[in-house]
Amino acid sequence: MSVDRSVTFTGIHFENPFLLSSAPPTESESNITRAFEAGWGGVVTKTIGLHPVVNVYGAKAKFMRTSPEDANVSMKKRPGAALHSSWNWELISDKTLEWWAPRIRRIKEAFPNKVLIASIMAGSGNDKELKHWQELAETAQGEGAEGLELNFSCPHMDRRDMGSNIGKDQGLCSVVTEAVKEVAKVPVWCKLTPATADIVVEAAACFRGGADAIVSSNTFPSIPLIDPETLEFEINVDGLVSSGGLGGPAILPLALAKMAQLTKAFPDRSFSGIGGLSDFNQAASYFLLGCGTVQVCTAAMLDQAVGPNVIKRLLSGLDKFIEEHAKDGWKSVEDFRGIRRDRIVLQSEIRRPDSSEYFSGYETVEGYAAPQPEAVVRV
Ligand SMILES: Cc1cc2nc3c(=O)[nH]c(=O)nc-3n(C[C@H](O)[C@H](O)[C@H](O)COP(=O)(O)O)c2cc1C
Repeated sequence: MSVDRSVTFTGIHFENPFLLSSAPPTESESNITRAFEAGWGGVVTKTIGLHPVVNVYGAKAKFMRTSPEDANVSMKKRPGAALHSSWNWELISDKTLEWWAPRIRRIKEAFPNKVLIASIMAGSGNDKELKHWQELAETAQGEGAEGLELNFSCPHMDRRDMGSNIGKDQGLCSVVTEAVKEVAKVPVWCKLTPATADIVVEAAACFRGGADAIVSSNTFPSIPLIDPETLEFEINVDGLVSSGGLGGPAILPLALAKMAQLTKAFPDRSFSGIGGLSDFNQAASYFLLGCGTVQVCTAAMLDQAVGPNVIKRLLSGLDKFIEEHAKDGWKSVEDFRGIRRDRIVLQSEIRRPDSSEYFSGYETVEGYAAPQPEAVVRV
């Protein structure tokens, strides 16, 4: 039985379900070209705004690593340490819409079978700002973008009507989505912030506004560690730091929890999963929870900037996974998408041990002190 890697997501045909997310890997024409040549099924451009932005002085992103002997987490490079996370305070693209427009067209002409989604962002405080969203949407789709991803999730915008501040306000989520849908001829995805109490509320608001899909997660709000020797933040400008975003392996279970909430609340809707992905084993969790596509950032940044080895691993992992399940009749992602969504239930629905196995919470498990013999009471 042959493997069919293709998926149809929000009506768009993808040759495979693996996308580079909106971030440095998709910030330029040359990067996107290299990404498509490497095998990615699609890309979401670095977020495009109407006005030029200026980033902080110095590094916009760094990586935290952890060492096996002491579990220390630090941005300092040291031998034998494994990747823990990325940390960034990078703003949206510092290139204008005029810069992006001809490049979107050229990329699409060169790669007609690959999918280019334009990530866009504007303010939302008044009608003029909503018109900015529409201008961005119309230009991007006019140049050939097959879809629009609305950035409701950038964690480091000071303005109350931008980025994750939109994603924290269900009213703004609906209003902006609706404004874009008024002019959109292509599917509209909303990328939500994970920094709210119940992401289902904001997702419902996006769907009310007409969203075709929800994308989650962007990075989680975080600050770098303070170096105990220098007493300075590991990344700072003139000793100062502001809240930034955490990505990479550290956020994988957190992002999966957000996604599980979403796919359980809206089993018939479309979701694109992001967070801590670097090979197929992790992507499988997102698909099994119900995602139709997945996106990658941190792992690709660390693999020649666009992830040629990451996409190779994702594709071969998908092929192997489906081949191993050929006996179950699986041929494509659609055959196993969402089949573990129903395994997440309320705590009260989880089985308790029989009385013969019950140690009143005194059994020895990893991470707990050994029980004191006199305290072990069998019930
Ligand atoms: C340096 C950097 C810049 C990013 N810029 C954007 C952006 O412009 N727009 C956006 O929607 N997400 C942006 N992201 C978030 C990523 O697209 C992604 O959602 C996040 O990093 C989690 O995925 P990961 O665990 O694979 O890194 C950025 C992430 C990083 C590390």
